[in-house]
Amino acid sequence: MHFKTHVNLNCNLNLPLPFIYYGVKSSVSLLYQAILLRMQLLLQGIFFSFLVMTIILNQILTSCAADDVHYLKCGSPFHCANLKNLSYPFWGFSRPLYCGHPAFKLQCTGEVATVTIMSENYRVLEVNDSDHRIKLVRTDYWNNTCPTSLRTFTIGCTFFDYGSDSRNLNLYYDCSSPSFLQPDSFPPKFNCSVNGTQMNNYFVDESMLANAETSVSISEILGACKSRVVVPILESEAEVLETNSTVENLKAALENGFGVEWEANNSLCDECQNSGGHCGYDPISSEFACHCRGGSFPSTCKSGE
Ligand SMILES: *[C@@H]1O[C@H](CO)[C@@H](O)[C@H](O)[C@H]1NC(C)=O
Ligand SMILES: *[C@@H]1O[C@H](CO)[C@@H](O)[C@H](O)[C@H]1NC(C)=O
Ligand SMILES: *[C@@H]1O[C@H](CO)[C@@H](O)[C@H](O)[C@H]1NC(C)=O
Ligand SMILES: *[C@@H]1O[C@H](CO)[C@@H](O)[C@H](O)[C@H]1NC(C)=O
Ligand SMILES: *[C@@H]1O[C@H](CO)[C@@H](O)[C@H](O)[C@H]1NC(C)=O
Ligand SMILES: *[C@@H]1O[C@H](CO)[C@@H](O)[C@H](O)[C@H]1NC(C)=O
Ligand SMILES: *[C@@H]1O[C@H](CO)[C@@H](O)[C@H](O)[C@H]1NC(C)=O
Repeated sequence: MHFKTHVNLNCNLNLPLPFIYYGVKSSVSLLYQAILLRMQLLLQGIFFSFLVMTIILNQILTSCAADDVHYLKCGSPFHCANLKNLSYPFWGFSRPLYCGHPAFKLQCTGEVATVTIMSENYRVLEVNDSDHRIKLVRTDYWNNTCPTSLRTFTIGCTFFDYGSDSRNLNLYYDCSSPSFLQPDSFPPKFNCSVNGTQMNNYFVDESMLANAETSVSISEILGACKSRVVVPILESEAEVLETNSTVENLKAALENGFGVEWEANNSLCDECQNSGGHCGYDPISSEFACHCRGGSFPSTCKSGE
């Protein structure tokens, strides 16, 4: 009904207006003229806005169609718990596998980002894209020197490599008291209470052992321990522990984690990014993929296959 009226008015506007040529300009005809003029302006306005909107919409739609969905998705920043603005090789949560590498799936719960490496769980404290390094802490050693399972974890060597600033800390658990009188200060002790019973434990790193004078009795003390766990810590933290072996410093050293360097086809990713693409993965070929505006390629946006 409305539509029909508009069309009719639109046609009437182009016709000579009978009232004007009768010489007597009644107030009715003036009013009619004014209404018609307004209608004309309004319709012109509507038509113009419609035209502009059509042009804009068309532009948006064509630009969307030109950019590959993988390219768009992998180019947007990804947040995971405490970690902001993550990119390749990390994925998980809102980011699909094709934007990452299978070994670098993150779990993002609350304020904690974790990663599983060789079936063991680590908190991810920091990610540095520019030097491909992350800082990790064993989840079971977070704010805890006495985990229930006393095992050394390894990160393997395929995708991760301990940073040059990592040092091994040896934690000796459930040690029996030595038969001889033990110097109070070395090796440094820490406590664990298991089922209400206090265990006697020690912590040492290699340079602490090398600096120790009474190394024969030390090896006797440490040899009487039921378990040993090797935990990597930062070199800076190890230096603090060597000069000041308090339990507080031990806890701080464990909580500050250790650095690892990642290898996830890093050089391919650099090439891909330099060619304007976003790094990712092709689950079908199980290989690296470079996502570009016009589609995905094995290494760079120019490789054309
Ligand atoms: C996010 O990361 C990208 C590339 O990694 C960088 O260019 C950008 O500046 C970062 N933004 C923020 C807010 O850190
Ligand atoms: C990341 O690594 C680069 C190069 O080693 C360094 O200059 C930069 O400070 C690091 N960024 C953070 C946040 O640690
Ligand atoms: C560490 O653990 C203690 C007790 O187990 C707790 O009181 C403290 O809040 C924890 N600190 C952090 C930072 O989680
Ligand atoms: C360990 O526990 C014992 C008994 O509760 C206490 O005397 C000792 O000071 C504790 N040692 C440390 C390093 O906390
Ligand atoms: C602690 O007690 C629980 C249950 O009583 C038992 O299953 C566990 O083996 C005990 N742990 C140790 C280290 O003795
Ligand atoms: C040793 O570390 C403790 C914290 O655990 C600190 O309070 C103390 O001042 C440090 N001592 C020295 C000599 O640095
Ligand atoms: C990417 O890295 C994986 C694992 O390190 C390796 O097996 C694969 O050959 C690499 N892909 C390419 C195209 O180099």
